[in-house]
Amino acid sequence: MNRVKKFYFSPTGTTEKIVTKIAEKLAEGMDLESINNYDFTLPPKRKEYPDFCENDIVVVGVPVYAGRVPNILLDYLSGINGKGAKAVAVVLYGNRDYDDALLELRDILVSGSFDVIGAAAFIGEHSFSYKLAKDRPDKKDLEIVADFAEKTVHNIGKKDLQINVKGNPSYNKYYKPLDKDGNPVDIRRVTPKTKETCTDCKICSRVCPMGSIPEDNVKILIGICIKCGACIKKCPVHAKYFDDEDYLKHKQELEEEFQDTKEPEIFV
Ligand SMILES: Cc1cc2nc3c(=O)[nH]c(=O)nc-3n(C[C@H](O)[C@H](O)[C@H](O)COP(=O)(O)O)c2cc1C
Ligand code: SF4
Ligand code: SF4
Repeated sequence: MNRVKKFYFSPTGTTEKIVTKIAEKLAEGMDLESINNYDFTLPPKRKEYPDFCENDIVVVGVPVYAGRVPNILLDYLSGINGKGAKAVAVVLYGNRDYDDALLELRDILVSGSFDVIGAAAFIGEHSFSYKLAKDRPDKKDLEIVADFAEKTVHNIGKKDLQINVKGNPSYNKYYKPLDKDGNPVDIRRVTPKTKETCTDCKICSRVCPMGSIPEDNVKILIGICIKCGACIKKCPVHAKYFDDEDYLKHKQELEEEFQDTKEPEIFV
């Protein structure tokens, strides 16, 4: 191998953090100095693909949305061609569950002519919350990253490796939250609001992965909102927020129900 590449989608930065640490440890284990970066979080980056070749080892990372690979990425990811590159599949989830997301990502990579030599699910602060999985990934997660990278490096020379990943091979449906009466909560229509304290710095517009916040009026939305949390968490004066009752209830339920500490899972 002669190149380590990072290839990821990460609106609030936790996926990027883990992917970067894994790439660094892989490069260390293989005595390679430079790491190539391709972040496809923003729309223009999803109009093209980096160049892959069989001497690459590519760390591919996405967050888990509704127990699956975010559906807005499926078209883009179905067009990748790994040309025989080695890949490490990584998903980040917010302490509820990663359900079938890792399996789905592995399958996408295999269909895209990558040779998958490792897969892992890590935990990152939930996009909806500052409490759920707060400060994850943490020091212990990073120790697991080191172990995972070491085991993955050992797989590089192996032929016809089949990385088995937990999950339902026909993939369960997208996870739907339920309210207290057991009715599904649909938060697709929810959009962020903007407080008067907004300084018009335009950061939210620049970080929205859907390109939905126009620079000339950051208080409106011109496209869909996937509730990724980027505009909320990256606003320097905390002026963006969600006030939808169903969204807030769902967030609170997640915070109450999933307090136990989940541990990363690695498949090598
Ligand atoms: C729309 C949406 C759906 C999500 N669904 C799940 C889920 O099913 N399970 C889970 O544990 N976390 C879920 N999360 C939380 C993210 O997986 C988690 O916060 C991840 O670390 C975010 O990655 P990022 O920091 O790279 O954006 C969801 C987040 C969003 C925005
Ligand atoms: S990031 Fe916050 S302060 Fe800056 S333009 Fe957006 S809402 Fe306003
Ligand atoms: S508007 Fe929606 S999609 Fe865009 S950054 Fe904010 S939460 Fe994410």
